[in-house]
Amino acid sequence: MDQLVIRGGRPLAGTVTASGAKNAALPLMASCLLTSEPLRLENVPRLMDVRTMARLLRHVGAEVTEEGPASLRLQAEAPGCPEAPYDLVKTMRASVLVLGPLVARLGRARVSLPGGCAIGPRPINLHLMGLERLGARIRLSHGYVEAETDGLTGARIAFDLQTVTGTENLMMAAALARGTTTLEHAACEPEVADLASLLNAMGAKIEGAGSATITIHGVPALRGATHRTIPDRIETGTLAVAAAITGGTVTIEECRPVHLEAVLVKLEESGAALTTGPGTLTVRGASRSRAVNVRTQPFPGFATDMQAQMMALMAVASGRSVITEAVFENRFMHVNELLRMGADITTAGNTAVVQGVPGLLGAPVMATDLRASASLVLAALAARGTTTVSRIYHLDRGYEALEEKLRLLGADIERVKA
Ligand code: EPU
Repeated sequence: MDQLVIRGGRPLAGTVTASGAKNAALPLMASCLLTSEPLRLENVPRLMDVRTMARLLRHVGAEVTEEGPASLRLQAEAPGCPEAPYDLVKTMRASVLVLGPLVARLGRARVSLPGGCAIGPRPINLHLMGLERLGARIRLSHGYVEAETDGLTGARIAFDLQTVTGTENLMMAAALARGTTTLEHAACEPEVADLASLLNAMGAKIEGAGSATITIHGVPALRGATHRTIPDRIETGTLAVAAAITGGTVTIEECRPVHLEAVLVKLEESGAALTTGPGTLTVRGASRSRAVNVRTQPFPGFATDMQAQMMALMAVASGRSVITEAVFENRFMHVNELLRMGADITTAGNTAVVQGVPGLLGAPVMATDLRASASLVLAALAARGTTTVSRIYHLDRGYEALEEKLRLLGADIERVKA
């Protein structure tokens, strides 16, 4: 198992390029199941979750080929096995994104129930409720969801809470349903809007994606298309915090600052100087950040996927900050590891009180999930001495070449075999 060895204390400086968004690429890839014609996706990040999705799509009967360093050709001419098996779903919950497309295209699907994960229970009841509203019959059997239909029919579906992959699954299913579907209290994340723009290029009729009400006029068939994945706003935010936490100056190119405004507001409030252009962001870190309070929320609020990274910054800020995790139930797994580096953090329920300390000390720490891993890397960049981050397969799931990008910016970071 690989580890990262990081010697901290160097202000980062320079320019890096943002990769395509993991959480956009995964549903974009799944949508190849909706048509027999080929899809071409550009700006697809090279990371483990994308490879897992490719494996899953091949298992279902699609062809997935790399056409260049960041582009994929996907074609599901005649998918024959409408199943997402347990061993793939347990490594990547986003596997559930094949459920909607398979039911819509083939009239049946069998997808392993994801179960809990490192950040909480994460049920999929809303995905299933929505499919039932569209006319699918759902059965749970031996740990699998089995869905069947003689044809989906448009319906009004109101979510009681906003779910990103739930909205995406139902948008894909409804694209091929008979009649009109309305999704109310839908997720507004940019990744949902990106998926709608691919589906529309494939011939779907979707309005309102990116807002809380999405209307989908079903069509009998979809065609192939070419689409460029949006930049990864969480990777951009993580690199921005890397600049802030080291007191460095970093420019991120090919990003979309409008997709992370809530994070940028908090970085500015904490003392960083920001310059944004339509596709670039420059962050100049303060010599010491100030404490700010953060509450995670669905888009356009502060992303839960940036909470752990912001906590690393607050761990070395001056003053006390209160961080509230309002999206997931158990997303503070990084806290105990930050404590090992000398942070002063107490948690009660979904709230963490972070008393900033003047500096962290390098230590051996363990990654527990994707964003927790990123926060440990950030803390290590600021810490005095050497930090070894183990179990970095979590990081490899969702960041493309993070350590190479950080090294390019002057970080002392290397990957070693444990
Ligand atoms: N929820 C339910 N029932 C459902 C679906 C969701 O109760 O049927 C709850 C969840 O338990 C959670 C909340 O609703 O408390 C929001 O979850 P959501 O469904 O929006 O999360 P997701 O779609 O499973 C995506 C991202 C996550 C990101 C969340 C929130 C992808 C592939 N994953 O997950 O990304 O944290 O939205 O923004 O898009 C990550 O990249 O590290 C990551 C975890």
